[in-house]
Amino acid sequence: MSNKSAKLEVADKNFDFPVLEGTLGPDVIDIRKLYGQTGRFTYDPGFTSTAACESALTYIDGEEGVLLHRGYPIGQLAEKSSFMEVSYLLLNGELPSKTELDDFTYTISRHTMLHEQLATFYRGFRRDAHPMAVMCGVVGALSAFYHDSTDITDPEQRKIASHRLIAKMPTIAAMAYKYTVGQPFMYPDNNLSYTGNFLKMTFGVPAEQYEVHPAIEKAMDRIFILHADHEQNASTSTVRLAGSSGANPFACIAAGIACLWGPAHGGANEAALNMLREIGTPDQIPHYIERAKDKNDPFRLMGFGHRVYKNYDPRATVMQETVREVFDALKVNDPVFEVALQLEEMALNDPYFIEKKLFPNVDFYSGVILSAIGFPTTMFTVLFALARTVGWVAQWNEMISDPEQKIGRPRQLYTGPTERNYVPMADRK
Ligand code: ACO
Repeated sequence: MSNKSAKLEVADKNFDFPVLEGTLGPDVIDIRKLYGQTGRFTYDPGFTSTAACESALTYIDGEEGVLLHRGYPIGQLAEKSSFMEVSYLLLNGELPSKTELDDFTYTISRHTMLHEQLATFYRGFRRDAHPMAVMCGVVGALSAFYHDSTDITDPEQRKIASHRLIAKMPTIAAMAYKYTVGQPFMYPDNNLSYTGNFLKMTFGVPAEQYEVHPAIEKAMDRIFILHADHEQNASTSTVRLAGSSGANPFACIAAGIACLWGPAHGGANEAALNMLREIGTPDQIPHYIERAKDKNDPFRLMGFGHRVYKNYDPRATVMQETVREVFDALKVNDPVFEVALQLEEMALNDPYFIEKKLFPNVDFYSGVILSAIGFPTTMFTVLFALARTVGWVAQWNEMISDPEQKIGRPRQLYTGPTERNYVPMADRK
């Protein structure tokens, strides 16, 4: 703790509140005793000025466009690491030795299968169910299948549940896809990498040999790295809030998936791809930029702007490079990429976007890549959920191990009626 303090005057009385310092980022004013001392709450809808927890996992500097996992820049991790290694890093705090990584990867691969009865659980969904609806249901249902890892007071059970969630998510996601397209479920193949196995379970069929394309495997693994964690965003905060009551980890991650489903969170890459397709050709770009600037037009450039980043989202840089790699590997020449590149350039040179600090975010290019790989748009958020599971699990573990952890219970500014007497039906107007 620092020696700094913040002064507050309430009803002619002065109060001092401690100021806490992190290793990076702004200091925070510790207002835990505010209500006890002043009888007042703070009002902060959307938590734009509230740190809800301490965390040593991920750091974002939105002004500078910095994203660090356990101190390592996302660009370096995306270029040099693997999703398994980043998962180990997020869970354990340090990069693994070769043996540690091999052991971790082996352990995860031994949890990839689902209880066989879960296949019948899928069949209870309508065929046209959105795969995110299936994800919410199936992940929540894991707590009904894996009772031996739901005691959150036992560190060993927490570890097993964490491994199960990370390992089973690709199987669950691929089965959600297979169910909607009416193809047979594919069992995991533990000879493949985490990401290669996911691609095979999604795009392979039992009737044919499936060869994992190395460039696609690498691109997909990188996309997973880019989505692995992002500090206290809405879905992560949802996981923490659900977990703060002592709920089991499978239920907590299902809550996170539900939150991620919303278009303001996980659904923006689909909207960005649809927008690029609607623009169609570069000559239409100026018209859409004018629309985005027009206050009387609700249209916004999808994949542009971010609540935290007021600079280039570092993940968007990696995404842009990955589009080229995927297009080269698959020999695809989708005009949406050219539209995206020119739209980005035009917007970044436009005073409106410069003044408002609106830059491409991670979603601007991800839809273009995922579509080229062959995923339908309904699967985009599912892939996000798959990758974010490790972040959710790491944040949930951090919260459970935090001695200061309390059940989350925000307060409110009440604006309803004051106390009044019940009126019998016959006397009501
Ligand atoms: N196109 C045009 N104008 C925009 C855009 C955009 N994409 N984004 C923000 N603006 C303008 C707003 O009109 C507003 O202008 P004003 O000050 O004149 O009223 C100003 O910039 C600030 O916008 P806010 O919505 O207040 O900023 P906020 O931080 O709340 O919103 C958000 C961030 C929701 C991401 C917003 O930029 C947006 O809607 N972007 C498009 C959707 C999108 O890409 N979402 C993905 C986010 S990344 C993720 O979730 C993984």
